[in-house]
Amino acid sequence: MNKLELKSIHQTFTGKKQRTSVLSDISLHVKEGEFVSVIGPSGSGKSTLFHIIGGLIAPSSGEVWLDGRNVTGRKGLISYMPQQPALFPWRNIESNVALAQEVAGESRDAALEKAREWLPKVGLSGYEREYPHVLSGGMQQRVSFLRALLGPQEVMCLDEPFGSLDALTRQEMQAWLLNIWEQNKRSILFVTHSIEEALFLSDRIYVLSNKPARILEELVVPFARPRQEDVLLKAEFHELRQHIQSRLRQELSHE
Ligand SMILES: Nc1ncnc2c1ncn2[C@@H]1O[C@H](COP(=O)(O)OP(=O)(O)O)[C@@H](O)[C@H]1O
Ligand SMILES: [Mg+2]
Repeated sequence: MNKLELKSIHQTFTGKKQRTSVLSDISLHVKEGEFVSVIGPSGSGKSTLFHIIGGLIAPSSGEVWLDGRNVTGRKGLISYMPQQPALFPWRNIESNVALAQEVAGESRDAALEKAREWLPKVGLSGYEREYPHVLSGGMQQRVSFLRALLGPQEVMCLDEPFGSLDALTRQEMQAWLLNIWEQNKRSILFVTHSIEEALFLSDRIYVLSNKPARILEELVVPFARPRQEDVLLKAEFHELRQHIQSRLRQELSHE
């Protein structure tokens, strides 16, 4: 059964002067334990799609299904990691991590205990009582990711989580994410505009067009799990990258 399924989502924003069509007939799915990426030009509507999945906005038409139930417009059912880490500056690291569990009804003590158990696993031992401003961008992203991971929801949506990091930190974070995910297989929908990132991490990739976003193509990524960094050197990796790149270039030239 599909864990998450979007059925023909359309989204149009109506402003004072004009109507903007952002999403056009988006249908996609994520199976149990699957890592799926959505790649598309910036401004194509990827974050809007996540806001719809999270129930923050209702789509103009179409439906969001979770575990075989229609959950369109319902909040709190999916764990969400936003583009920026969005940590609370007045909460220390362990209590930032505990937040998603507390919101879901877990006791504060149990939530903190779980946070303390996991922080060393993401390389943040000793930072439990520090405040977010002390941490680098990459460390803040790990806190934000851990908060989403420890929530009770079974589907995680990650919106360009590594977009603001430098190239080296970004590679480290990708390897780190794969490692955590391979130990604890959640269903993930991952938004990125990096082709390499999508190919390195995913089981499947949806390629989106320019706004209004349609699905141009769905690709199955053929590399074995657990995935090794040497896939980046394979001829097949380069062929797939070229293929996606040329699809996205065609889109840009139609702007
Ligand atoms: N509430 C809104 N009202 C009007 N336009 C919006 C609103 N939210 C997003 N948009 C427009 O939708 C388009 C897609 O935005 P977004 O989903 O953030 O793209 P992406 O995440 O792919 O970069 C943009 O052109 C943006 O201006
Ligand atoms: Mg976005």
